[in-house]
Amino acid sequence: MVALHVGILSFNSCFPCLPHSRLLRLRFTKRKLFPVAAMDEDPIREWILSEGKATQITKISSIGGGCINLASRYDTDAGSFFVKTNRSIGPSMFEGEALGLGAMYETRTIRVPRPFKVGPLPTGGSYIIMEFIEFGASRGNQSVLGRKLAEMHKAGKSERGFGFDVDNTIGSTPQINTWTSDWIEFYGKHRLGYQLKLALNQYGDSSIYQKGQRLVKNMAPLFENIVIEPCLLHGDLWSGNISSDKNGEPVILDPACYYGHSEAEFGMSWCAGFGGSFYDAYFKVMPKQPGFEKRRDLYLLYHYLNHYNLFGSGYRSSAMSIIDDYLRMLNV
Ligand SMILES: *[C@@H]1O[C@H](CO)[C@@H](O)[C@H](O)[C@H]1NC(C)=O
Ligand SMILES: *[C@@H]1O[C@H](CO)[C@@H](O)[C@H](O)[C@H]1NC(C)=O
Ligand SMILES: *[C@@H]1O[C@H](CO)[C@@H](O)[C@H](O)[C@H]1NC(C)=O
Repeated sequence: MVALHVGILSFNSCFPCLPHSRLLRLRFTKRKLFPVAAMDEDPIREWILSEGKATQITKISSIGGGCINLASRYDTDAGSFFVKTNRSIGPSMFEGEALGLGAMYETRTIRVPRPFKVGPLPTGGSYIIMEFIEFGASRGNQSVLGRKLAEMHKAGKSERGFGFDVDNTIGSTPQINTWTSDWIEFYGKHRLGYQLKLALNQYGDSSIYQKGQRLVKNMAPLFENIVIEPCLLHGDLWSGNISSDKNGEPVILDPACYYGHSEAEFGMSWCAGFGGSFYDAYFKVMPKQPGFEKRRDLYLLYHYLNHYNLFGSGYRSSAMSIIDDYLRMLNV
């Protein structure tokens, strides 16, 4: 029996991430084969039976759970494929995912599902076909995860500055990736600023908006004396998106990729359960920069604000106290 995403079972100590606990309900359920459609009506079959090099699809199992998209495993005589479909949106979301997975795959560092094909469904909606990875029973070795993540950060370079070729989403919140040459400007405008504006628009929270903007305008001293290079980031690295393959090699999935300051990768660390051996291995490859500790909360802030915008006021006080602490520390 395939143990999909068993890695997620290890995150239940992470209380603040309870909204994600629906993931625990992921189950494999068998589903009858779809009625055979003419090849040109089903672009998924068509791709698997041509470029996918299969001559026969032997089984389609849905990987249930009712997350945002429908997920299926296609078993064929040329191996298995992982397919996600969404009946109500165009291909742009899956294109963003494929570009992110592809960029991480190209670094040949940490294992990610290799993306194969994205396209529209003739009935409306869209699909993505990717490599099917059989997940192992353990969460994988933390020090190997730390080392490989650092290797990905080191290998994933950008010549266009900070950003990404497409916008993507963080949870279901849009994440703007307009190329920007200055990291402080990028993080202030497209990360913190975007979430603050959203909180203002959807909750009328002018208090967090104004204080947050004051922090954004005054945060430059936190970055003194360091050189910030754009690194390829997974962008949403928490335990739900970390697993391991059958050999115990770490696998990361469902990214919200962009090129950014490597330290921003730890913005979800309050839900990732990274231990000492993870960080030791990471910093052996990507040495810790001066001021790392004082920027740490600034990178958590983006994700706390996003959780506030997604899940409501339970996260407001965490975000607000980070902002208040910085305003006090920066004396602004
Ligand atoms: C498709 O995507 C939209 C927008 O992200 C989401 O609200 C919807 O639940 C998804 N549904 C399915 C079944 O594909
Ligand atoms: C994890 O990997 C490191 C380095 O490869 C090794 O030294 C360590 O023993 C491993 N830990 C476990 C728990 O397997
Ligand atoms: C990865 O994290 C996002 C939340 O940010 C979640 O929607 C998605 O389901 C997670 N992926 C897996 C495989 O659990």
